[in-house]
Amino acid sequence: MVRNFGRKAALTAALMATTSLAQAAEVEVLHWWTSGGEAAALNVLKEDLAGQKIGWVDMPVAGGGGESAMTTLRARVTSGDAPTAVQMLGFDILDWAEEGALANLDAVAAEEGWDAVVPAALQAFAKHDGHWISAPVNVHSTNWVWANKALLDELDIAQPATWDDFVAALQTLKDAGKTPLAHGGQAWQDATMFDGVILSVGGVEFYTKAFIDLDADALGSDQMLEAFNRMATLRSFVDDNFSGRDWNLASAMVINGEAGFQIMGDWAKGEFINAGKVPGDDFLCFRVPGSDGAVSFNSDQFAMFSVKDEGAQGAQGEMARAIMSPAFQAAFNTVKGSVPARTDVPNDDFDACGKQGMADLAAAAASGKLVGSVAHGHANRAAVKNAIYDVVTAHFNGEYDAAAAVEELVNAVEAAQ
Ligand code: BGC
Repeated sequence: MVRNFGRKAALTAALMATTSLAQAAEVEVLHWWTSGGEAAALNVLKEDLAGQKIGWVDMPVAGGGGESAMTTLRARVTSGDAPTAVQMLGFDILDWAEEGALANLDAVAAEEGWDAVVPAALQAFAKHDGHWISAPVNVHSTNWVWANKALLDELDIAQPATWDDFVAALQTLKDAGKTPLAHGGQAWQDATMFDGVILSVGGVEFYTKAFIDLDADALGSDQMLEAFNRMATLRSFVDDNFSGRDWNLASAMVINGEAGFQIMGDWAKGEFINAGKVPGDDFLCFRVPGSDGAVSFNSDQFAMFSVKDEGAQGAQGEMARAIMSPAFQAAFNTVKGSVPARTDVPNDDFDACGKQGMADLAAAAASGKLVGSVAHGHANRAAVKNAIYDVVTAHFNGEYDAAAAVEELVNAVEAAQ
């Protein structure tokens, strides 16, 4: 009897130990990859981790740019229940690192030699005080235009090379009764267009002075007035139902030929690919006219929140290792629309837009024309970013004319610092 009971207890204990180990070898991942293309890319990550016996607990929070995800994250951390791995952008990563909330990834980074292969522009956000605190999964950029090729061919519209060409192309689409510009009226989408417009007006020099240095003269300049005028021009080419529309539904309008163009980061390419479309044949990708040579980038990184449980720590390390493997970076980014976060991944598996994205990134980094995206948290901390969002969106919705927007921008940025 006693022996039997002992054996049963030992078995139960062994079972419990296995179960808790199995439970520990999992990551809870908070992210905002909820569109069709994003979900397809996320699956590449889930399957990669499943192959390594790392369990996945999904915590999706919809909303491009990650604002809602960051609000949810703050609430989870405040209630003492941080997710183990979190998709994060730019300055948000550094903010959490400063709060001492993130795990140190130095050991896996050293084993895998991250220092040598991750570009400096990404290390600026993946390291804090010299320590690795996140694993970059990709590099996106925001100054892209996506176009429906058949529609352009039908209306004899050539790929626009200058801003004036672009406006003329938009007008031709409008005259033909099409929606010229597919857009979703959400603050982060307005701001995403603004990234490209700023570059088209004054290149990286103006972009840097205004939005990285936050120079009041540049913020209040005639160039800024021109940028807001260009935003008003774009506003005149969106359809009546643009307000509140999700970005992927705007991409769908270009995919199905209802609209000619969308200005959006290269996550939009993920939607085209997911719909079975081929670059060059079905759709075109090109830089916002006037912004060629410049790249406004953002990099999705996974930051790991500090946990005590050793099993969970192990799973976090393995997830970071998996994310950074060259094979995974190719497999994931070909689906996501982004390009690899390491410089040594061959471009063979990438389509024409991906190859262009990789070449543009390398060239921009070499020529000093790589700038962090304002809209996607790589130019400023959240307070300044949100102040810029507010002005850009109020202007886009007709609350201010361009001159008032310039004035509001100067004041809002100053107040937010
Ligand atoms: C992220 C992308 C994402 C996009 C739209 C951006 O902030 O960097 O990965 O696809 O938002 O959700």
